[in-house]
Amino acid sequence: MSFDFSGRIVVVTGAAVGYGRAITESFASRGATTYALDKDAERLTPESFSSGRIVTHVVDITDRDALGGLFAAIEREAGPIDVLVNNAGGALGRGFVPVEDVDFGDWDAVLDVNLNGTFAAIRAVAAGMKRAGRGRIVNITSGAGFRASRTGVQAYTTAKHALHGLTRHLASELGPFGITVNAVAPGIQPISPGVERQWAGYSDEVRANIIAGIPLRSLGTPQDIANAVMFLASDMAGYVTGQILPVNGGAF
Ligand SMILES: NC(=O)c1ccc[n+]([C@@H]2O[C@H](COP(=O)([O-])OP(=O)(O)OC[C@H]3O[C@@H](n4cnc5c(N)ncnc54)[C@H](O)[C@@H]3O)[C@@H](O)[C@H]2O)c1
Repeated sequence: MSFDFSGRIVVVTGAAVGYGRAITESFASRGATTYALDKDAERLTPESFSSGRIVTHVVDITDRDALGGLFAAIEREAGPIDVLVNNAGGALGRGFVPVEDVDFGDWDAVLDVNLNGTFAAIRAVAAGMKRAGRGRIVNITSGAGFRASRTGVQAYTTAKHALHGLTRHLASELGPFGITVNAVAPGIQPISPGVERQWAGYSDEVRANIIAGIPLRSLGTPQDIANAVMFLASDMAGYVTGQILPVNGGAF
């Protein structure tokens, strides 16, 4: 099965590393003009990507004014956005703290990027997609959208659960306008600095148990996540909306 995104305008948040980078490269290699957004100016350099079809913009998605202004500028420059992938997020290097000791600033920060930033990005593209009569929104969530996060971070679990709710709600709201809204829920992959630290903190036994709990017996690759996003963003998935697709080797 091949997917052609020639002529399509795609925006990916959190594109500097890990899943976001693989998703960005996958769209560009299939012909899309791909806008790669991240707050990490050091890693999000144009020359670090393989394709000239990738346009980088440094932005903090929790800065609502900056984000709204950037999406408006992209639409002026390129036309309506066909695909939005909300990938920016993560536990922001936080780890387990007993609930009674959680710092409110940490709670807010994790919800801000994972949930509020995603909402702000969707809010920014919705009107243009409605005018175009089509659009694809894919939210990158997590196994932590179904159960407690391995990170131990309450706000991360809460934000990813909320994103599943937002995905279903907006599928219902935006479906009549030809816009689909779906989510990809990855399992753990130590492919970005935060998750590498988390994985390195586990004993050999814990790591072996995690892999033994995955029917396909591997952690998978960022390309596995990108492949699922390609499907949900493609014409092939035109009748799929409001769905959460776990891409985790079959782990429960
Ligand atoms: N890697 C995993 O094991 C795993 C598992 C399940 C879900 N996820 C989710 O997948 C997504 C990508 O994770 P990852 O591990 O590839 O990378 P990551 O979690 O380290 O970060 C993703 C990118 O988001 C960017 N980012 C963070 N806050 C931002 C902000 N306010 N504005 C703009 N950009 C911001 C970071 O700079 C980074 O480049 C995240 O939403 C994460 O929660 C990851």
